[in-house]
Amino acid sequence: MSVNLRLIVAITGASGVIYGKRLLEVLKEKRVETHLIVSKAAEKVLEHELEMTKKDLEKLASHVYNVDDLNAPFMSGSFQTDGMIIIPCTMKTLAGVASGYSDNLILRAADVTLKERRKLIVVPRETPLSVVHLRNLLTVAELGVAVVPAMPAYYHKPKKIGDLVDFVVGKVLDCLGVEHRLFERWSGRKKS
Ligand SMILES: Cc1cc2nc3c(=O)[nH]c(=O)nc-3n(C[C@H](O)[C@H](O)[C@H](O)COP(=O)(O)O)c2cc1C
Repeated sequence: MSVNLRLIVAITGASGVIYGKRLLEVLKEKRVETHLIVSKAAEKVLEHELEMTKKDLEKLASHVYNVDDLNAPFMSGSFQTDGMIIIPCTMKTLAGVASGYSDNLILRAADVTLKERRKLIVVPRETPLSVVHLRNLLTVAELGVAVVPAMPAYYHKPKKIGDLVDFVVGKVLDCLGVEHRLFERWSGRKKS
C-alpha cells in the first residue's frame, strides 16, 4: 500500500541512529517520498553503532542532501512538504530548533517547517536530561512540535531490539497518521 506523503527525515548524531534507519525502511515500503539529511555527527554514530556508511543509509531515501547544502529546495517554505522528523534528535539540534539558530540544513528545514505551521516531530535521545534539555523540550512542545522520546514501552512484550525500535518508530507513524502494524496495541486486560 502506498502513502501519498512528502517528508523530510533528518538523522542527527545521537545514540539510536537505528530508529532513523528503521523509519526510512518503513517509509520506503510504504512508498512515501523522503528527503534525507544526515548530520556529520550522525555519520560517525552510524559507523560506530550500525557499521553502516551514510551512502548505505541514503539508499533508503528518495532524495538526499548534504547538511551544508544551503541550496536545497526546502530552504524555502514555498517547497511544500507534509512535515519533518528528526530521528534521533541530539540535544544540540534540539537547542537549535528551540532557538531558531539555523546554521545547517537540518535546522533551517526545521525552522521552515515551524514557520509554515507544518508537522515537526522530534525523537530526542539523551539521559539523564539537564534543565537546559528539559527547557528546550518544553519550548519546542509549546511551538507545536510532537516530542516522541526514544522511550520504548514494554507492554507489547518485546523479544528483541527490533521490537523496541519498532515501538518508537510506530509512535512516530501514529503522529503522522500513517497506518502500521509495528507493535501490538494495548487493548485492555485479556479475558482468561
Ligand atoms: C557515539 C556517540 C553517541 C552520542 N550520543 C548522543 C546522544 O544520545 N544524545 C546527544 O544529544 N548527543 C549525543 N552525542 C553527541 C553529539 O553527536 C554531538 O553533540 C554532536 O555535535 C551533535 O551534532 P548534530 O546535532 O549536528 O548531529 C553522541 C556522540 C557520539 C560520538
